[in-house]
Amino acid sequence: MITVLTRSIAEAAEFIRSGGIVAFPTETVYGLGADVFNADAVAKIFEAKKRPADNPLIAHVSERGQIDMLARDVSVDANRLIEAFFPGPLTLVVPKTSRVPMIATAGLETIGVRMPSAKLAREFLKACGTPVAAPSANLSGRPSPTTWQAVLEDLDGRIDCILQGEATDHGLESTVVDCTVTPPAILRLGSLSIEALRSVVPEIGIHRQDAAIAPRSPGLRYKHYAPNARVVLVDSPSEIGADTGSAYIGLTEPVGEFAETMVCGSVEDYAHTVFAFFRKCDKAGIDTIYCQMVSESGIGAALMDRLRRAASH
Ligand code: TXA
Ligand code: MG
Repeated sequence: MITVLTRSIAEAAEFIRSGGIVAFPTETVYGLGADVFNADAVAKIFEAKKRPADNPLIAHVSERGQIDMLARDVSVDANRLIEAFFPGPLTLVVPKTSRVPMIATAGLETIGVRMPSAKLAREFLKACGTPVAAPSANLSGRPSPTTWQAVLEDLDGRIDCILQGEATDHGLESTVVDCTVTPPAILRLGSLSIEALRSVVPEIGIHRQDAAIAPRSPGLRYKHYAPNARVVLVDSPSEIGADTGSAYIGLTEPVGEFAETMVCGSVEDYAHTVFAFFRKCDKAGIDTIYCQMVSESGIGAALMDRLRRAASH
């Protein structure tokens, strides 16, 4: 299959309407989309990404009215979160309608719903005329793509089209909140902070994964967000002797030379760059990436979550 690269929203949306799969930018990471109501198209996403069939997809909407096509019995708290944070980097897990094919939710009776805020994403979704199921547009297990070039690296020849936009704003995925339980519980930390969520629903909890029970967010079971290189977390770069086979990313300037060095101006910057940096290190054949830890407030909590996952593989 030839992967078409385009900046035309109309051209990219036409692939979705005719049952194809298209990568497109959102404010978090690039997604790989298909018409959520077309089971054959959704199946192509799993194949292209080599994604395990038991990992459900998020449905992306362009307007509030589309939520009713996907979800039923939306709770009061879920409605509050929609009111406060849609469009934005938040995914709400709610009971699904029978119209949503089981393949999209990996057999679950719930569905993740998200309304992206990025202008290109919104215009693209509007042109598709249907909610779009979309996981991150990487090969399963690789870091999420924050540029169209990263999508191409993983999925060239495996998908119909890439809608080319800028590098994504946040660089980490959306925050996933389970609204089928009371109080709602965060299943995956992400670009919308816990502090922001709790300003609207103060009692929101964090779902701690227990290996003994089936995970609520099946995706978290899999290797995720990880480069090929070994990832080592450090408090400060002064702990590491510089060496030319290794790389460093953090907030503090290191002493000495690394093969690749990225000093970030803020935690937001760090979150924005980390996945692209991992990919760059893999291309350069780096064997160890030292990552400076950050304090776990705001986006720092999600960044530390991704760094820990990357370091545990
Ligand atoms: O920012 C994002 O969320 C990006 C952009 C493209 O929107 N998408 C994304 O999708 O990161 P994905 O598939 O890579 O991650 C979705 C996560 C997975 O961990 C999945 O298991 C979980 O959300 N999830 C999706 N639907 C769910 C459901 N019904 N119940 C529980 N967890 C769900
Ligand atoms: Mg993903």
